[in-house]
Amino acid sequence: MKENRGKWNSKLGFILATAGSAVGLGNIWKFPGKVGANGGGAFLLTYVIVVALIGFSVMIGELTIGRATHKNAVGAFKQLNKKWTFAGIIGIVALFIILAYYAVVGGWVLKYIFVYLTGANFNGDYGSYFVNFISSPIEPILWDLVFLGLCIFVISKGVTSGIEKVSKVLMPGLFILLVAIAIRSVTFAGASEGLKFMFTFRWSDFTVDMVVAAMGQAFFSLSVGMGILITYGSYLDEKTNLISSAKWICILDTLVAFLAALAIIPSVFVTVGKDGLGMGGGFAFMALPHVFASLPGGIGNIFGLVFFVLLFLAALTSAMSILESLVACVSEEFNISRHKSMSMMFIPLTILSMGYSLSQDPSRNINLPWFDFTNGFQMLAMNAVMEKLTDNVLIPLGALAFCIFIGWVWKSENAIKEIEQEGTVFKFKNVWAFLIRYVVPVAIIVILYFTVIKGVVLS
Ligand code: PHE
Repeated sequence: MKENRGKWNSKLGFILATAGSAVGLGNIWKFPGKVGANGGGAFLLTYVIVVALIGFSVMIGELTIGRATHKNAVGAFKQLNKKWTFAGIIGIVALFIILAYYAVVGGWVLKYIFVYLTGANFNGDYGSYFVNFISSPIEPILWDLVFLGLCIFVISKGVTSGIEKVSKVLMPGLFILLVAIAIRSVTFAGASEGLKFMFTFRWSDFTVDMVVAAMGQAFFSLSVGMGILITYGSYLDEKTNLISSAKWICILDTLVAFLAALAIIPSVFVTVGKDGLGMGGGFAFMALPHVFASLPGGIGNIFGLVFFVLLFLAALTSAMSILESLVACVSEEFNISRHKSMSMMFIPLTILSMGYSLSQDPSRNINLPWFDFTNGFQMLAMNAVMEKLTDNVLIPLGALAFCIFIGWVWKSENAIKEIEQEGTVFKFKNVWAFLIRYVVPVAIIVILYFTVIKGVVLS
């Protein structure tokens, strides 16, 4: 069955939708935790360099493949060179696993919207409230299913009308609110400790693990290495300037991540002190309710509600980009309808989601085997395996395959020809070709060496 492929309505719509994919829980749930765990200033600096040199280059490459072929992540490789179909498949497998856990965290956000709607009673202990909730067996799974259902609903409405409309309203709103929260957070008495931590560069923090963590986070946050941008690029026409679009997406995504860190880290220092930095992923859920509660009058609850609604929409646009890429791939490659491919994926996604959610309570851990060449076989909690497998192995592997394909197989000259259609001038094309052929593959091989061979556990 051939269905009409969608197309973006405008360049702004495309940039916002792609930024909508990039900006999500990764910026607010993961990024501040990584800054905390990997030593403030050194991590921030490394992150910016990685985004500018590596993330941006891979993003340009992915968008180019998409626009050149007008195909999904797997179909695009099939068309350009059949032997490289596996590159698209690596991305699709990563996306499937990510969506399963992304929906669980998206469900946590829904729960917090509900909490703020019903009076926000945390009994003053934001940390225990959060931990008790995520480790309970049934409730998080129900919220996870609501989140997945909403995602399916928007995607079934089609590309342009669904994704573009949501993103156009959401991005500016989220941005403004984050600025306001960051201002509140940095003006707490004692916030300067947190700011000092964030912006002091210490050579001792500059370790291999930190650089590896920065790269993993950059790929996840920019949504590169999984074929999302191939899919989104495939809905573009030849007039769009890929380079300036990619530049704006990287800038927006990084700005939001920095704002989130500014909003969260100083308030962690104020509430639980430096030790709280070890809380990692739960940061947003534990620190921000405290910021909201500190606001005068009843205004904190309104802020809390609006924040979690915007965070939910940011998570939704990211999850939608994942589901859209999966659906485009399954429906086009197996020649079945978009609806049918969504229903085929629903049950396996739900099962994986449940495993992730249930493993939040260490006493009820579902363990899965894990292997690296230094530590051999180990049994690890299912949630850790899902995150490690995607962030540390599949995404870098996908990005590596994409770069080698673009730089050496399809050849960077062909990519540049595609980019420079309709009068687009690509000023730094030689620098880009050098990065995509040499620098990026070497950097990724280094990441893979440390995670797969050395078994570095990233925090
Ligand atoms: N980039 C998104 C975020 O930061 C998450 C995402 C990962 C989206 C993978 C698409 C693919 O939250």
